[in-house]
Amino acid sequence: MTKTYALKGNIIYSKNQNEINCFENSYLICQDGKSMGVFEKLDEKYKDIEVIDFGEKIICPGLVDLHIHAPQYNFRGMGMDLELLDWLNTYTFPSEAKFKDEDYAKRSYQRFVDYLKYGPNTRHVIFASLHVKSTQILMDLMEKSKMVSFVGKVNMDRNGGVDLEEKDADESEKATLDWLESIKGKYKNTYPILTPRFIPSCTDELLEKLRKIKDEYNLPIQSHLSENLGEIEWVKELVPKAKFYGDAYNIFDLFGKNNKTVMAHCVYSNDDEQDLIKENEVFIAHCPDSNTNLTSGIAPAGKYLREGQKIGLGSDVAGGTHASIFKAMADAIKVSKLRYRLVDEKIKPLSLEEAFYMATLGGGEFFGKVGSFEKGYEFDTIVIDDEKLLEEDKFNLKQRLERIVYLSKDEDIVSKFVRGNKIF
Ligand code: GUN
Ligand code: FE
Repeated sequence: MTKTYALKGNIIYSKNQNEINCFENSYLICQDGKSMGVFEKLDEKYKDIEVIDFGEKIICPGLVDLHIHAPQYNFRGMGMDLELLDWLNTYTFPSEAKFKDEDYAKRSYQRFVDYLKYGPNTRHVIFASLHVKSTQILMDLMEKSKMVSFVGKVNMDRNGGVDLEEKDADESEKATLDWLESIKGKYKNTYPILTPRFIPSCTDELLEKLRKIKDEYNLPIQSHLSENLGEIEWVKELVPKAKFYGDAYNIFDLFGKNNKTVMAHCVYSNDDEQDLIKENEVFIAHCPDSNTNLTSGIAPAGKYLREGQKIGLGSDVAGGTHASIFKAMADAIKVSKLRYRLVDEKIKPLSLEEAFYMATLGGGEFFGKVGSFEKGYEFDTIVIDDEKLLEEDKFNLKQRLERIVYLSKDEDIVSKFVRGNKIF
């Protein structure tokens, strides 16, 4: 791939929460992995660059998945009759325990990465399992794919059962340090992220150790927050001194104040928790598919977005069944309508513009300047062939985007670029 090149086609990207920029038959220029912007005509200075002409196809920013579990890919679509805590014990923990076996991990993670590669997402924030070797395998494979990701070796020193638990806080700390040392300087596009699974999996002693590790290595943090009512009651018993669930992380400085943090779900965050999320600029990963499958509930995503919270979308495979963030957009819009009709008519349903914002700029901010084609943003791009969806009518670009969100399949993604590198 040349250093400077252009893609030609019908270009769409989110301008802000309420507006979508649409350019018919235009040029999107990439220079050194960054967007130089969208142009109706190529300037004289670009007259010699390579132009890849995608004709009538749609070109839009790659989508961002703020929350996905790599070792859960193998059992997606199973156990969907259970709620969170039973689902974790019955399906998730036994399934993740298999990643102790490195050969199994290699085969499974290869399938997982191939699956992500041909979908619409270009960036992922990923939970691996607690196993150091398997996490290294996953990071090697993600790096090879040229997609950009954060990957976390999971910490859990309680309530995982015999097969999925680190012996104590010391063992979890040592494994985390071994992992961090083993990957130092190894990758260009794959970053470590500290990953205490959730409060019920981590003793206070472990969280105290993780605070020191994140300071020493200056790491971002990911975890789960206020997903399920039974989980929230349990956290109250486990950490009685915490004023609310998020405070149980905040006590150990694992809640965004000093390190970039993303918390999945926030279905039941109370006012105090929402205030602290805002104050600490914690990112919310809204995971509507998972919250439906596990009967968790419906997060007030529209409220969060409109109040200026940092929020993007997550697939939460295998609580969610599909990794595609187009699907997460449709799910987010649908559940927001049910919430509006059945729970709270003060929070209007999400619009297409809002969902597109969360899928691109909203989640993209966790990675930096990502999710837009404005000049200076990282060049993450997907090309979609929606010819089958055009019927005989003339749709405008926004209408075509809406149909892609609801109707497209991974097979319709015909090309993908991340940081200017061609993925396929
Ligand atoms: N809370 C703790 N672990 C998990 C997990 O693996 N998936 C979901 N959805 N919630 C969790
Ligand atoms: Fe999750």
